[in-house]
Amino acid sequence: MSPRPYTDTQPMHVAIIMDGNGRWATQRAMPRVAGHRVGVEVVRKVVEHAPTLGITTLTLYAFSSDNWRRPATEVSTLMRLFRSRLVSEVPRLLDNNVRLTAIGRRDRLPLALADALGEAEEKTARGTTLHMRLAIDYSARDEILRAAQRLASVSEATREDFGRALGGEYDSRPAPDVDLVIRTGGERRLSDFLLWECAYAELYFTDVMWPEFGPKDLESAVEYFQKRDRRFGALSAAG
Ligand code: FPP
Repeated sequence: MSPRPYTDTQPMHVAIIMDGNGRWATQRAMPRVAGHRVGVEVVRKVVEHAPTLGITTLTLYAFSSDNWRRPATEVSTLMRLFRSRLVSEVPRLLDNNVRLTAIGRRDRLPLALADALGEAEEKTARGTTLHMRLAIDYSARDEILRAAQRLASVSEATREDFGRALGGEYDSRPAPDVDLVIRTGGERRLSDFLLWECAYAELYFTDVMWPEFGPKDLESAVEYFQKRDRRFGALSAAG
């Protein structure tokens, strides 16, 4: 895996809402969790392909804080799947020089999963090719609220202070702003994902279900990004 040199038309931080696992499985008369299992394999392919497109940070929405409302059996299967894959994937992450960290609450996760996350973070801490951030029990609004509470006593906190306070409980090195959000599965919304970091993100929606998403789809999303004129509120070079 050799990363391409960065140019300003490449998205450095890509955030993905991996939607459609359940529907993909149901359409094939399989249990929903079968879709999640295939979804994990897709994560592996995307993580390995991302650096070749110049992506340096990849944030994946694995489980939102609202997902606790799903049937208990689906939730517990997902938690077990996350844990077993985290343990089994670490050698591959190390081979690919990937650093893994998690964002979201950890205190409500099964202990075995919280431990596996901590271990994976420790073992991969020196990865420099890609920073993969797994959002588990994540809610952007809750995270923003926690950051505001943390900064309540700081007078005149800046945007940078606020950015650092986000997710700071577990990761003292904040991620850069999101350049590109990809959502699979046909829905067109952010669903409480990285609301602060996505202030100027480009949004790419595709009907492809996550289990069928592949390196070519990632390339299509990056091509879409490259065609956008990012002005950040100013005027374009063309005026
Ligand atoms: C959304 O599909 C997907 C999820 C809630 C789980 C996504 C998790 C993974 C792909 C695994 C990642 C894990 C690791 C450890 C890398 P959905 O169930 O909402 O699909 P639906 O909208 O069709 O119901």
